[in-house]
Amino acid sequence: MKAITFEGPYAVKVSDVPDPRIEGPLDALVRITTTNICGSDLHMYEGRTSVEQGKVLGHENMGIVEEVGAGVERIRVGDRVSVPFNIACGTCRNCSAGWTSFCLRTNPLEGIDGAAYGYANMGPYQGGQAEMLRVPYADFNLLELPPGTDHELDFTMLSDIFPTGWHGCALAGVEAGDRVAVFGAGPVGLLAAHSAMLLGASTVWVVDKEKDRLALAQKIGAETVDIASEDPVEHILDATGGRGVDRGVEAVGYQAHDPTGEEHPEMVLDNLVKVVRATGGIGVVGVYVPEDPGAQSELAKQGRIAFDFGMLFTRGQAVGTGQTPVKRYNRVLRDLIVSGRARPSFLVSHELTLEEAPRAYERFDKREDGWTKVVLHPAA
Ligand SMILES: NC(=O)c1ccc[n+]([C@@H]2O[C@H](COP(=O)([O-])OP(=O)(O)OC[C@H]3O[C@@H](n4cnc5c(N)ncnc54)[C@H](O)[C@@H]3O)[C@@H](O)[C@H]2O)c1
Ligand SMILES: [Zn+2]
Ligand SMILES: [Zn+2]
Repeated sequence: MKAITFEGPYAVKVSDVPDPRIEGPLDALVRITTTNICGSDLHMYEGRTSVEQGKVLGHENMGIVEEVGAGVERIRVGDRVSVPFNIACGTCRNCSAGWTSFCLRTNPLEGIDGAAYGYANMGPYQGGQAEMLRVPYADFNLLELPPGTDHELDFTMLSDIFPTGWHGCALAGVEAGDRVAVFGAGPVGLLAAHSAMLLGASTVWVVDKEKDRLALAQKIGAETVDIASEDPVEHILDATGGRGVDRGVEAVGYQAHDPTGEEHPEMVLDNLVKVVRATGGIGVVGVYVPEDPGAQSELAKQGRIAFDFGMLFTRGQAVGTGQTPVKRYNRVLRDLIVSGRARPSFLVSHELTLEEAPRAYERFDKREDGWTKVVLHPAA
């Protein structure tokens, strides 16, 4: 089959790879109808992870079940499904507690709990930027969707970024009436803003420097702050009478940079400590890594981020972090889509074929104007 493989920094290509097959009785094969390129893929694309050459990328997948193993009882051939990016066993201690992003059994790599498709350090699983995907523990992992093709562009956000935006709000403790600051207006930040509004936030600020992304944030009713022209801390403190917001979401990650492009991995964390009120909450869903050989400072190379922890303590703020347990939220978010309350497809900018993916990686990576979210249709 055709698939997008990682070949080295700034190099992905359309490759012919072996068709996946049922390897165990609990597996299913899903024929991919839609698969997205994610900001997380860009960390690999830019050579900032140890992902191996030849890996099939793609962890934001949905499609139609093509075949199931002998032990699969709930999911049936022909079902339309969303595939959470986490690969979870469903029965370990963390899975049982709802933390499928920290499954204790699916990642054979020492010291890392949690597995995912097509991702560095997340286990030996191929991704879904391909015609077909093997899904382990299919009954547990797959989310069933209404048959047909309705809401395809909304449902395709259920595998990762809609739950991730929601998780950022959950970790921050967003409740009705809260004022919320979201740093990063990429797909995750935009859906964190959308989630905060669905949860009843009174005002949401979205901070970035990409004008097209900020325009989308405005379109869904957020206030925006452009770091290219103003200091986000001053802006948000001014707008809240000096008190700050109740909750903050970090949707940028370890490659946070200033408007000139110079990286400062502590920059957004510092800003959040300053704009969130004392005893408020901060949800960090932007990715930070234990080692980053490509970092600009010695400290950051070892994954050590020197942010304002003293002030965080003094202000009594709560911080939540980590990969999203997609399954915790995706059923509810699917139903919000079906009822018309949620419309995460608002950020889709491009629908392309697999053949067009290498060029799309390049342009999305440069955050070129208008390239907010790329979805691929392998069957097209
Ligand atoms: N926790 C999870 O499970 C999970 C899931 C998906 C993605 N992620 C991570 O979330 C982060 C965002 O993902 P995305 O797809 O939106 O990526 P993206 O790269 O498209 O968006 C990041 C945005 O942050 C902006 N930015 C950079 N520096 C900034 C700063 N100092 N202040 C404000 N904005 C700044 C960039 O301009 C960009 O628009 C990434 O780190 C990604 O790996 C985490
Ligand atoms: Zn993703
Ligand atoms: Zn598990």
